Formats: sequence, C-alpha cells, structure tokens
Amino acid sequence: VDCNWVSDMFQSLGVAPCTSIVPLADRIDELADRSDGFLSDVSTLDTGLPGAAALVAQYNHLRFERRLFANLGIDCPEGLADATAKRSSEYLAGRAMAQLGQAIFGHQPSPVRRSETGAPAWPHGLAGSISHSAERCFCLMLPDCSQLVGADTERLAGSNQLRAILRIVATPSDRTLITGVQDPAVLATLLFSAKEALFKLLFPLVQRHFGFACAELCALPTEAALHLRLTQDLHPALLAGAVFRIGYVLDDSHVTTWATARPSIGLT
Ligand SMILES: CC(C)(COP(=O)(O)OP(=O)(O)OC[C@H]1O[C@@H](n2cnc3c(N)ncnc32)[C@H](O)[C@@H]1OP(=O)(O)O)[C@@H](O)C(=O)NCCC(=O)NCCS
Repeated sequence: VDCNWVSDMFQSLGVAPCTSIVPLADRIDELADRSDGFLSDVSTLDTGLPGAAALVAQYNHLRFERRLFANLGIDCPEGLADATAKRSSEYLAGRAMAQLGQAIFGHQPSPVRRSETGAPAWPHGLAGSISHSAERCFCLMLPDCSQLVGADTERLAGSNQLRAILRIVATPSDRTLITGVQDPAVLATLLFSAKEALFKLLFPLVQRHFGFACAELCALPTEAALHLRLTQDLHPALLAGAVFRIGYVLDDSHVTTWATARPSIGLT
C-alpha cells in the first residue's frame, strides 16, 4: 500500500493536496527521525494481500530510552513501566509499525492496547498482528475487523535452535520433511514461524493456548507459501484436516510469515 501516487497525481494536476495526504516515504522518514536512531530500515513488505499494510523495521534496544514512547506518541502500558530495555523496545517498535499502518489507511492514530490474553486489541475497523525477533519488527494490518490475521518473524535458526525446533516444534512428519532438505535450518525456522503465525491467526476463535503438535506441514513449501494442516479439532469451525496457507519471505537474517482468514468463510 503506497500513497505516493496520490501526491504525484496532485503534483501533475498542479493542485495543492490537503495537508493530511503525506507521502509514505515522508511518513517513514519522519518516524525514523522521531525515534532518534532507535528505528531504522522502516519499509513495507509485499505480502500480495489486497488492501493490507505490512510494515517491517529494525530496532536497536541499545538506543532505547523511555522518552521515546512520548516522542512516537505511543502509550506505555502499566505492565511495561519496569520492563527491560529489550522488552520495552520490542513493544515500542511493534506499536510504531501499527501506528504507521493506521496512517497508511488514513486513520487517526489510536492506541493498540495489549489485551489480557497478550493479543493486541485493535481499534475499531482494523485487524492485525505484531511480531518481533532479534531487533526486527513486523506488523501486518487490514482495514477490515471481520478478518483474522496472524504474523510472525523469526531470526534464522543456528544449529542449536535447529535441534530445539526439531524436538519441540516439529511433528514426526515435519521432522521427516525437514531432515530431507538441503538447508534444514531454513525450513525449520520457517515451520516455527508459520506455526506461531497460525497460533495468532486462530487464537481469537480458539481462545486458549494450543501447542505445536496441533498443526503440521502438508508438503515442502513452494516459493512463496507453505500449507499447515490441523492435526486435531481446535473449535467447532476448526476441525482436524483444515488447511491454512501461510505466506512467507526469507532474507539474509530472518523468516517472516503471515496468514489471513475469515472466521465464517474460511481461508482467503
Ligand atoms: C504468543 C506467541 C505466539 C508469541 O510469539 P513469539 O514468537 O514468542 O513472539 P512474537 O514477537 O512473534 O509475538 C509477540 C506478539 O504476539 C502478539 N500476541 C501475544 N499473544 C497473542 C495471542 N494470544 N494472540 C494473538 N497475538 C498475540 C502480541 O502482539 C505480542 O507482542 P506485544 O506483546 O509486543 O504486543 C508465543 O509466545 C506462543 O505462546 N507460542 C506457542 C503457541 C504456538 O505457537 N502454538 C503453535 C500452534 S500450531
């Protein structure tokens, strides 16, 4: 979602745009400036989801200061008042992306509070999901509160994490697929991230914790997506065998995954 074309159009017509139309690039620069070096490489991610805003950034917990909450116009929840710089940083970075997403949709910034379950409580008209890992944050939002959204980002696993993922996250069938590929650490990270995204996607329906054994890979991923199948019933509308498409991108350091669904209609 890029609003640069709007300002280009005003320019080509020789008409001054109203003040609320700010090109996305300017919003991103302004956000990075206000963060005093805490946020960098703020950009959009192409998820291929119609109408979605997907925002990623690097954050640096060594540049975190509590005054940045006020600088960026973000409420610091009570529970975070004494949190470590690492925890405060990831929360702040995720909320900064959510605020940018609201601006992209032309919404006035409203707080995205943390609900009792830990899930973000989206302002009216919005659905979304937030993730952070190893100084990378990701927020996926849709201007449609009837959608379910799940998003995740994870740093690529090293050999120790690969062993842990195989033991804790993978089902026996996942393990067979992972250990058969040339780069098992990448597929293992992808599986881990995809299961976390699926958890966030389905949590509003399931309303309880459900573990990694509840879903497994249908097959090896294609270039842009993988499919997870539920191994057990999670809810009257989420029965064993239901399949979910999880989009993903890989870069040098991270795997990023996402999924959307409509509770009443099924997969999008
Ligand atoms: C809740 C959980 C998914 C968070 O994932 P994580 O990789 O540890 O951390 P991430 O940074 O990716 O995500 C954290 C964000 O998820 C969001 N979140 C937390 N609980 C959530 C929930 N119940 N539903 C939706 N989103 C939630 C929050 O926005 C949180 O960030 P914030 O506190 O700064 O707002 C994870 O800790 C967990 O419990 N996993 C086990 C359950 C699971 O994955 N099952 C697999 C099913 S197949």
